[in-house]
Amino acid sequence: MRRKLVVGNWKMNGSKEMTASLCKSIISGLTQTGADIAVCVPYVYLSDAANALKGTHLQLGSQNVADQTSGAYTGEISAAMLKEFDCTYAIVGHSERRSYYGDSNESVAARFCQAQKQDILPILCVGETLEQRENDQTFSVIDEQLDAVLAAAGIEAFKSAVIAYEPVWAIGTGKTASDEQAQEVHKYIRERFAKQNPEIASQLQILYGGSVKADNAKGLFAMADIDGGLIGGASLDAEGFLKIYQAAN
Ligand code: PGA
Repeated sequence: MRRKLVVGNWKMNGSKEMTASLCKSIISGLTQTGADIAVCVPYVYLSDAANALKGTHLQLGSQNVADQTSGAYTGEISAAMLKEFDCTYAIVGHSERRSYYGDSNESVAARFCQAQKQDILPILCVGETLEQRENDQTFSVIDEQLDAVLAAAGIEAFKSAVIAYEPVWAIGTGKTASDEQAQEVHKYIRERFAKQNPEIASQLQILYGGSVKADNAKGLFAMADIDGGLIGGASLDAEGFLKIYQAAN
């Protein structure tokens, strides 16, 4: 049985004060359940968040990680640095990174490998744009995004990784993929892995992301191949985020 996982992606939002108060509100509403929960906060708030979460089952993640180990890479944050703040997860290949900052499939694959070297679970984001969907390229785009990581890391690496299917047209737009649309792609991804290794495929957590809210989470999470969500906007409100988490139980 795969555990469900709900991850908040705060993106470039927050402050020291908000980090402390939002973490506190989430923790105070947590009940011990069968699902995992994490927040991916801006790098500069990792320390505050790590302190706030200590001893709770709210886990911590980063929103990216460098594609190099260390050295002259101004502005980058390495996986070893993230490990010092007890990061369990690191998002890699978020569509905002791919489209605004040029993170290529190859660099996403390198980031994925860097995270794993430090025993940080990469949350690998894949997904198509609206134009790609309309041109029937959804599956080929996802194939390319996955193939780059499979080539660099190998199938075994997916024993310790999470995938997030995030259709770009659904991110921050209020347009969610229907339960069936999302399930279709999740099933495709799982079957693709199953061709190489059925056991890894059956254990792989595949999250859905893109305008998940308290009112649509239950339907999405009930689908056979959807194992939770990567939540942007709705993770900035403790009450709404907790409702999404409860929907995963
Ligand atoms: P959203 O973002 O929930 O605000 O659509 C999801 C994401 O980008 O991970």
